[in-house]
Amino acid sequence: MLTQSFQSYFNTKPKFIVRAPGRVNLIGEHTDYNDGFVLPIAIDREVCIALNPRDDETIRLFSLDLKTDSVFNLHSLNPSNGWDAYPQGVANELMKAGYEIKGFDAIITGDIPRGAGLSSSAAVELATARAFSVISGFEWDAVKMAKLCQKAENEWVGVNSGIMDQMASASSKAGYAMFLDCRSLEIEHIPLPKNVSIVILDTSTRRGLVESAYNERRSQCEEAARWFGVKALRDVRLDSEKWKVESGKMKEERELVFKRARHVISENERVLEAIEVMRNGNVKRLGELFNASHESLRDDFEVTNDALNIMVECAREQVGCYGARMTGAGFGGCAVALVNESNVEAFVKNVPAAYRQRSGLEASVYVCKSSAGASQV
Ligand code: GLA
Repeated sequence: MLTQSFQSYFNTKPKFIVRAPGRVNLIGEHTDYNDGFVLPIAIDREVCIALNPRDDETIRLFSLDLKTDSVFNLHSLNPSNGWDAYPQGVANELMKAGYEIKGFDAIITGDIPRGAGLSSSAAVELATARAFSVISGFEWDAVKMAKLCQKAENEWVGVNSGIMDQMASASSKAGYAMFLDCRSLEIEHIPLPKNVSIVILDTSTRRGLVESAYNERRSQCEEAARWFGVKALRDVRLDSEKWKVESGKMKEERELVFKRARHVISENERVLEAIEVMRNGNVKRLGELFNASHESLRDDFEVTNDALNIMVECAREQVGCYGARMTGAGFGGCAVALVNESNVEAFVKNVPAAYRQRSGLEASVYVCKSSAGASQV
């Protein structure tokens, strides 16, 4: 399909095809920019780019989904608000980092719903980086590329996001969740529980990341870290002297900052417990941790909306559901549920019906498979 489209658009076959996946975060929300822990999986929805080298420095990119193209020269990049800000941002960061990159003709397509909290933008960034790597012949270094793509997103696109999405899209392994220490960027791949389906529940409500709420949460977390006198909230535990001594005063004087900190610190502890219980095959406890994470994001971090809260309720009521929580930045987008495989068929039917009845909205449901990080096909 992609090859055919390339052929009819450029009148020749593509030489390379690259891909990069979206992700769903199992647990560890709003912890990445606090140097904390996250546990995402790459999903079987991705961005694909078919491409051919050019002998000049022009990038010609046709988006099959938007039915529009973008043509730009590597030496006169132009920040825009459009979809091509991502590829242009990645090109810019690669050149700033000293990579010698070359022009190409390409067609880009994808099946990650946009703005749903499944990292469609990180997938575009990593697929673009991978495209430049095959075309320009430089060695692929997943962690380096993830950092560079995050920089493109922060500086070029203007979203102050953490490193989770790019690392998940770059470095995941099929069949595993990626336990990432966002300070050291060390990864441990944790086998996914057996006989359990990971189900993504899209509320169909959207709210852009660029909006101030995300950056506001970030600065509240930074304020909390300063209060505790640590580099980042990762350095505080709920059973520490620091927390015991400082948090009472913080609660009195800066209640919101206290709540944000309590979410991040407890969420980090939930991630650490999640990987333990996954190793022991205790799916029931993993589900409880999902639920506790949602409650904390709802009450302390305040990044859920009604649709997410209703969706999570509808999911938890179903037979075979171990737990459910919002996933991604929040304010809309998707929830994720852990469901016993033998109940998943009914789950997929019942949740949208219950959700429609209670919210008046339509849900999209994906039973997802885990996939591997960015690669050449
Ligand atoms: C967005 C950001 C990530 C992370 C999550 C919340 O997806 O891009 O860096 O902060 O929100 O966990």
